Amino acid sequence: MKKKLIAGNWKMNGSLVANEALIKGLLTGLGTPGCQVALCVPAVYLAQVHALLADSAIDLGAQDVSEHEIGAFTGEISGAMLKEFGVRYALVGHSERRQYHFETDAVVAAKAQRALAGGITPIVCVGETLAEREAGKTEEVVKRQLAAVIHTNGHCISEIVVAYEPVWAIGTGKTASVEQAQQVHAVLRAQLKAASPQADRIHILYGGSMNAANAAQLLAQPDIDGGLVGGASLKVPDFLSIIASAL
Ligand code: 13P
Repeated sequence: MKKKLIAGNWKMNGSLVANEALIKGLLTGLGTPGCQVALCVPAVYLAQVHALLADSAIDLGAQDVSEHEIGAFTGEISGAMLKEFGVRYALVGHSERRQYHFETDAVVAAKAQRALAGGITPIVCVGETLAEREAGKTEEVVKRQLAAVIHTNGHCISEIVVAYEPVWAIGTGKTASVEQAQQVHAVLRAQLKAASPQADRIHILYGGSMNAANAAQLLAQPDIDGGLVGGASLKVPDFLSIIASAL
């Protein structure tokens, strides 16, 4: 069976001093983890965190990647640039990018493609808003979001990671119930299976107020292969406890 993957998403948090303390704390308490671990950090800290994580069991991730390869795209960061800093994963299509930066399904699919072309594993985020869930549209929304990525990436789809992050559960302390999460994960798994015979190797992560108290139950679900952790990834004991529950 594949190992689970626990990825922290620092979002726009951190400082040189705070990052060093956080990573030293994590590495001191980590031991040999029973799962894969990654940290998706703000781009300006990639070099610092890359150095701090050298020879450790924690992989480095970025929070975004450009849909373009190179050129006149002010402010953008390419997959090749990320690769130079040892980046293994890049979040694409996080709901905060979709919401505040108007990233469409097509842009998200192009970013996933660009990451794959650069040798970086995209963590493709999908998820419905509260209004969409209340309107009974959860499955329709997540399937549409994932379909765009499948359509653009074809047989490479088995190389991606998917993260189901219900928007109403992000940073709100409202976690999806294990039943709600598992149900959507099963839908996504079926969609991936229809697209690739190797879909079983794809990690489908749950994200949205995952914490030390609820992680074990969520991670015990058959189609939940790990977590994408925001707030709790900024606290050493909480993140270590989530990692320890991912067996
Ligand atoms: P929280 O864990 O803070 O709810 O954030 C989830 C998230 O958006 C991770 O990408």
